[in-house]
Amino acid sequence: MLSFDDEITPSIAPAIRMGAMNSATSMLSSTSTATQTASTGTGRVRVEDKRIINSRADVNQLVPFKYKWAWEKYLAACANHWMPQEVNMSADIALWKNPNGLTEDERRLVKRNLGFFTTADSLAANNIALGTYRHITNPECRQFLLRQAFEEAIHTHAYQYIVESLGLDEGEVFNAYHEIQSIRDKDEFLIPFIETLTDPDFKTGTPEADQKLLRSLIVFACIMEGLFFYVGFVQILALGRQNKMTGAAEQYQYILRDESMHLNFGVDVINQIKLENPHLWTPEFRAEIQGLFQKAVDLEYRYAEDTMPRGVLGLNSGMFKEYLRFIANRRCQQIGIDVLFQGATNPFPWMAEMIDLKKEKNFFETRVTEYQSGGALSWD
Ligand SMILES: [Fe+2]
Ligand SMILES: [Fe+2]
Repeated sequence: MLSFDDEITPSIAPAIRMGAMNSATSMLSSTSTATQTASTGTGRVRVEDKRIINSRADVNQLVPFKYKWAWEKYLAACANHWMPQEVNMSADIALWKNPNGLTEDERRLVKRNLGFFTTADSLAANNIALGTYRHITNPECRQFLLRQAFEEAIHTHAYQYIVESLGLDEGEVFNAYHEIQSIRDKDEFLIPFIETLTDPDFKTGTPEADQKLLRSLIVFACIMEGLFFYVGFVQILALGRQNKMTGAAEQYQYILRDESMHLNFGVDVINQIKLENPHLWTPEFRAEIQGLFQKAVDLEYRYAEDTMPRGVLGLNSGMFKEYLRFIANRRCQQIGIDVLFQGATNPFPWMAEMIDLKKEKNFFETRVTEYQSGGALSWD
């Protein structure tokens, strides 16, 4: 059994260790904004005092609501609850074990895909629980973040469940984030922004610090969840559309739905912070964000090339170049940044119906009964 802490590379270790330390210090610190209670007075919470960051209103009182969109997203996320073990993996297992079931390129794609996602969602969970949560000083937004953190745990569970079901080499898959260069490069891009938020000494309240927070929020929501996940989602969902790995594809379909909610919540938070703190949104800051998008598109494109060097499933890396440009433009538009790639189009219009999945409808039809929460489904 691998010890995660022992196995991670020096470049990744500080983010995790610092985060672990941070959770303890933030609980004890009486000066942390995130842990303030009613220290600013005995008056009742007024809606007009609530703010996304640097709020002086009591963070322990959920109501009166100010940001109804945050509460509504929390309710919608709960309504979409699912668990990995409810999905039948027997067709995937039979296909994977059949020597003629998948091509070598398809197997490489699946393993590299899981190699990125198995650790990416742990990074996402740590970023929320040990970083973002402390700096967002609004209780309805925190309510969503708590739900989001649990969903990241479900996603990590789903990837682990697929790895276990297929009998893959756990060491190979879970260590891909420091053994496969194209995956490691993506994570190394993300780590400094996660470390900013998990640093126990980091506090908001100055324009510089607030810009750091905003930058990290944009990287997490719009680049990590909103761009770095998308080559992987398209690949597995494309397999499912060809009736291959339909159990894994169903799990990815639910994950994609969750992630598009995380992205939309992140976009709302970012835009609200901009509205409340317009001095942060300088031309220099916007130019820097554009540069980050450019870099992220390059990294994700290299990952696409690495995962399918020859083209597979009717997909090729050229299509992904166009798709990533299209997605990056969309993310920029969502937060009010000038688009980088004029005229980019979407080569995968079918992805829209994947995101619009209704709870009762399973695109890949791997479920035999109606969805139910509160217990695992029986496959008898
Ligand atoms: Fe996730
Ligand atoms: Fe997420």
